[in-house]
Amino acid sequence: MAEELKIPTHIAFIMDGNGRWAKRRLMPRKYGHKMGVEALKRVVAACDELGVKEVSFYALSTENWSRPQDEIDALLAMIKKFADEEMQDYVNKNYRIRFMGELHRLPKETMSALEKVESAAKGNTGIVVNIGLNYGGRDEIVRAAGKLAAAGKEINIENMNSAIDTAGMHDPDIIVRCAGEKRLSNFMLWQSAYSEFVFIDDFWPDFDKDTVIGIIREFSGRERRFGGLK
Ligand code: FPP
Repeated sequence: MAEELKIPTHIAFIMDGNGRWAKRRLMPRKYGHKMGVEALKRVVAACDELGVKEVSFYALSTENWSRPQDEIDALLAMIKKFADEEMQDYVNKNYRIRFMGELHRLPKETMSALEKVESAAKGNTGIVVNIGLNYGGRDEIVRAAGKLAAAGKEINIENMNSAIDTAGMHDPDIIVRCAGEKRLSNFMLWQSAYSEFVFIDDFWPDFDKDTVIGIIREFSGRERRFGGLK
């Protein structure tokens, strides 16, 4: 009998192991991030092809600023290049583009490149590609609660759902962490209440369509009860 895969609505990825992947090849860490961008493109294409409706990626955390300046500069340059080139292609492919996090700490030209593609993709109806930039789950929760308080609204779950950065999106069905690590590292803390966790030993730059199929296969075998009984 053909295998039946349950296609999740939303998969969120914590991209990890770029540095170790590069080190094993005696290459600089930046090269690992560069290959990480290629993996991200493969994963987005695979998810779209398989019928996943929303994908999220943790590209830059509120804590990543403590890395050496040349690594930060390389990451920022890659993000700008990604917005200028790859994301234009996403706009043409009918993908929706969103960002989560506090973008204002990014260089002005990066921010305006991001805003430009986000607004160009506004009327699109395809897969949602959501990227966390200067993102932290605790920071997001505090900002959302602050927005509600400033508007004089009650802080309850429904209002918080519409004040967080992913408002209007589904909570992730699956959160994937790779490179042998097993922690959330401040990623989508509010949204992950009932997410299934999948841990993959591969480093992020090695991710491809087969990795995504493996993740969906594992998810398909899970029983989700959302706090209820079977
Ligand atoms: C974790 O690997 C990865 C990051 C902190 C950055 C992820 C960023 C990208 C893939 C590129 C930028 C993204 C876009 C959207 C253009 P690590 O450096 O912590 O690896 P290590 O644990 O092996 O050192």
